[in-house]
Amino acid sequence: MKKDFISIHDLTTYEFHEIMDLTKRMKKNPSKFRKVLRDKILAMIFQKPSLRTRMTFEVGMLQLGGEAVYLAPSDIQMGSREGVRDIGKNMERWVDGIMIRTFGHNIILELAESTKVPVINALTDLFHPCQALADFFTLVEKKGSSAGLKLAYVGDGNNVCHSLMLAAARAGTKMAIATPPGYEPKPEVVEWAKEDGKETGFELKITNDPVEAVDGADAVYTDVWASMGQEAEKEARGKIFLPYQVNMELFSKAKPEAYFMHCLPAHRGEEVTDEVIDSANSIVYDQAENRLHVQKVIMMLLMGKK
Ligand code: CP
Ligand code: NVA
Repeated sequence: MKKDFISIHDLTTYEFHEIMDLTKRMKKNPSKFRKVLRDKILAMIFQKPSLRTRMTFEVGMLQLGGEAVYLAPSDIQMGSREGVRDIGKNMERWVDGIMIRTFGHNIILELAESTKVPVINALTDLFHPCQALADFFTLVEKKGSSAGLKLAYVGDGNNVCHSLMLAAARAGTKMAIATPPGYEPKPEVVEWAKEDGKETGFELKITNDPVEAVDGADAVYTDVWASMGQEAEKEARGKIFLPYQVNMELFSKAKPEAYFMHCLPAHRGEEVTDEVIDSANSIVYDQAENRLHVQKVIMMLLMGKK
């Protein structure tokens, strides 16, 4: 693997499947991996809030024999108190890896370029790759494989949507995305997905019609309508995205056994109704659990003995 884990586009199809296989092994037999990161330290830089990401990276490091240091947005004030490059150059003297959750994707690229230690993307405005790996691992656990499945994504063509698309390309999944006009995934990410999925059986349909996307799907995925950093747009988006709410009427267009998926946190009553997220078809807490398992594998691969 490359030094850093910044996007699923950076993984080969082989590496993507290797991560899935290793996660299965590690989840089944965690005690075998209890010391693989002994004496290693991960710095966790958060410029946005988090429950799952913070918990799973910190717990993951502890379970692998290492430790994690949490840096809240106010601690280092990246970009205002000190530039990204200087932070990277300091960090490499103390820690074995850096996890960062930030805004502009250029920030993580600059950090990775400026530091010798591995950098892991824990969400930028463009991507959320650890989330997509956990989601595809969850599908593999439930269905045996994610190849050939129809995954519908309804809502904003955002960071989560982008990473799911790139994972679907590697996995050979048929993805259908429905967004309001003007909120489609970015064309350059669509191009990367098409390139990465050329030989895997990947199919991609992008539409503005949620029913068309959900029709016959094996899983229906949604995310918040206003992501972190878009709080000022929340009200306007609330009106624009209303026809894209995953409620029972829309969800019933998918296969009867279809899964409901969400990266969480969910804004219940907005992008998803209680009835859907609390239904027997919902696997949102399995997705959250699997963040831990896939990230342990990523950290082992990047920070462990080569
Ligand atoms: N899904 C996810 O990344 O959750 P947090 O924002 O709570 O970390
Ligand atoms: N799209 C959301 C995902 C949160 C895990 C955000 O960026 O806020």
